[in-house]
Amino acid sequence: MPVITNIEDLRVLAEKRVPRMFYDYADSGSWTESTYRANESDFQKIKLRQRVAVNMEGRTIRTTMAGVDTAMPVAIAPTGLTGMQHADGEMLGAIAAKKFGIPFTLSTMSICSIEDIAQATRAPFWFQLYWMRDRDFMDRLMDRAKAANVSALMLTLDLQVLGQRHKDLKNGLTAPPKPTLANILNLMTKPRWCLGMAGTKRHGFGNLIGHAKGVSDMSSLSTWTREQFDPKLDWNDVEWIKKRWGGKLILKGIMDEEDARLAVASGADAMVVSNHGGRQLDGAPSSIEALPAIKAAVGDGIEVWMDGGIRSGQDVLKAVALGAQGTLIGRPFLYGLGAMGEAGVTKALEIIAKELDVTMAFCGHTDIRNVDRRILLPGTVPG
Ligand code: GLV
Repeated sequence: MPVITNIEDLRVLAEKRVPRMFYDYADSGSWTESTYRANESDFQKIKLRQRVAVNMEGRTIRTTMAGVDTAMPVAIAPTGLTGMQHADGEMLGAIAAKKFGIPFTLSTMSICSIEDIAQATRAPFWFQLYWMRDRDFMDRLMDRAKAANVSALMLTLDLQVLGQRHKDLKNGLTAPPKPTLANILNLMTKPRWCLGMAGTKRHGFGNLIGHAKGVSDMSSLSTWTREQFDPKLDWNDVEWIKKRWGGKLILKGIMDEEDARLAVASGADAMVVSNHGGRQLDGAPSSIEALPAIKAAVGDGIEVWMDGGIRSGQDVLKAVALGAQGTLIGRPFLYGLGAMGEAGVTKALEIIAKELDVTMAFCGHTDIRNVDRRILLPGTVPG
């Protein structure tokens, strides 16, 4: 067993253990993947100011996100098909997040259902909503989320149509995989994954199967999006959803100052500066590049979070310094999960927390809530 010391180690192990089509699904962006790559590489351009001879005792990285106390300014992002990275992946992720003391967000396009997560954690969690044409289904989904103790709804605004990810088309991505020769040959090299899958009944989209209708291929994300996601979603719908839900609302997918102001006007509790992990509009700026202008446009009137490209605690610290009250991690979570199940998710969270804590100390701070852009070298900061 290799010694795991950073998120890259988990990624390498996940690549070995997870069937090709699901590893590729997670580890890819749309079209040329330029935005996907920039999400990570733009973090590297930002330089930190080292401070010395500052008392580093009694440090804390605890904060709040949408009113929830969190062990660090990090929550688990909603990610599709998570239960295909590892058997019962969403349940394991939610349990690891609960034990660590950070929020977990379940995707609409998850394998485990809302009810599975409620049962596995017996704690509040967040639920990400995709807006679909079938309004009865939307109604029922929100009611199911309420009944399951979901404490905030995260509405994704940037995926009414799907950005093309070449590998998903080439791999014929479905959940569960279809029994083609290529898939069978690949699965034969992933005994650990197969054993896990043999031990669970959760092999398809748990929130949808048996609840939603009108889709020709129940196992295909691209067919779902094309046939069910409502391309007409606009700010009136957002208002309607906010009223219908009646609880905390988080808007994800804001990349533009004008949209950010509209998000504030909608009365949402938080917004996530996000380009969907570089999986939607290729050619959009990285999330960390977009963050400062959006934060400046909305001020403190709403919580601003970001996601995309975070692979370390240093990245989290840079996002916080540029005005993010919190961050979401998708791939670091999936790499941990694919590598080692619940223990891998815990490992990913421990790695990020430790890097964040020690880096904050190097920058001369003891409380994450006091960190601001003064910890960054001015010439290296976007915006
Ligand atoms: C869905 O959320 C995806 O990005 O594939």
